[in-house]
Amino acid sequence: MRVVIKPTAQDAVQFCADVFSQQLLTKPTSVLGLATGGTPVNLYKELIERNKKGDLSFALAKSFNLDEYLGLAGTHPQSYRYFMQQQLFDHVDIAPENTHLPDGLADDPQAFCNQYEHSIKDAGGIDLQLLGIGSNGHIGFNEPTSSLASRTRIKTLDPKTIRDNARFFSEDEHQPHLSITMGIGTILDSKHVLLLATGEGKADAIQATVEGALSAMCPASALQMHQQATIVIDEAAAAKLSLKEYYLAVEAEREKLTTF
Ligand code: GLP
Repeated sequence: MRVVIKPTAQDAVQFCADVFSQQLLTKPTSVLGLATGGTPVNLYKELIERNKKGDLSFALAKSFNLDEYLGLAGTHPQSYRYFMQQQLFDHVDIAPENTHLPDGLADDPQAFCNQYEHSIKDAGGIDLQLLGIGSNGHIGFNEPTSSLASRTRIKTLDPKTIRDNARFFSEDEHQPHLSITMGIGTILDSKHVLLLATGEGKADAIQATVEGALSAMCPASALQMHQQATIVIDEAAAAKLSLKEYYLAVEAEREKLTTF
């Protein structure tokens, strides 16, 4: 696990944008795993900027999102499809047919989940998977006690997650309690996992992810088993890490190596 601590949230965003740029430059046909939530919004803004300047292109890329609310159409303003259109897809040169999200209105959701797994495999697997993290340590919608080997499936949301995400819904709006999410096993199959977390509200979850026991109680701790997982956090999200000095030292050594 590589732990990158940046002074501010915007520095963390820049670092992640550089990882995306590098990925798309090295492999323009990359398969990108994408995430929703408040955290990636500024990252997507930065990617849009770079795309507009011609510094990076999604023209040959494909994307698969982590999750979607079960029961919401892609045209619903709180659906993750809608979010992705608004926050990224409508502003960059990605081909609409190359963007994939779980279908919240699938007639047979479990059959859809199996098909989603096949589609990822058929595309060659995910090269770079972006993740956020829930305050309870969830990734995608893999709530605590999710199987660490799980695949795309229907998940019931933790009441804590429902409360955390209530800010996106108006009071009289129906907030789904079910989702379709890639499994933890699906996420672990990605070649590179990039987790972005900012703010003090994520400090406990980050501590459990990086320094806690490998446990389904903190789904993100499964990343300890991944060969290339990069955790990018700001100072606030890093506040509860006990080995912070070590992570900073590792990055300082890396800097030296790349300048030789
Ligand atoms: C949702 C999403 C997750 C995301 C999490 C945190 O539950 N399913 O993929 O990581 O929210 O979101 P935020 O970045 O808004 O804290």
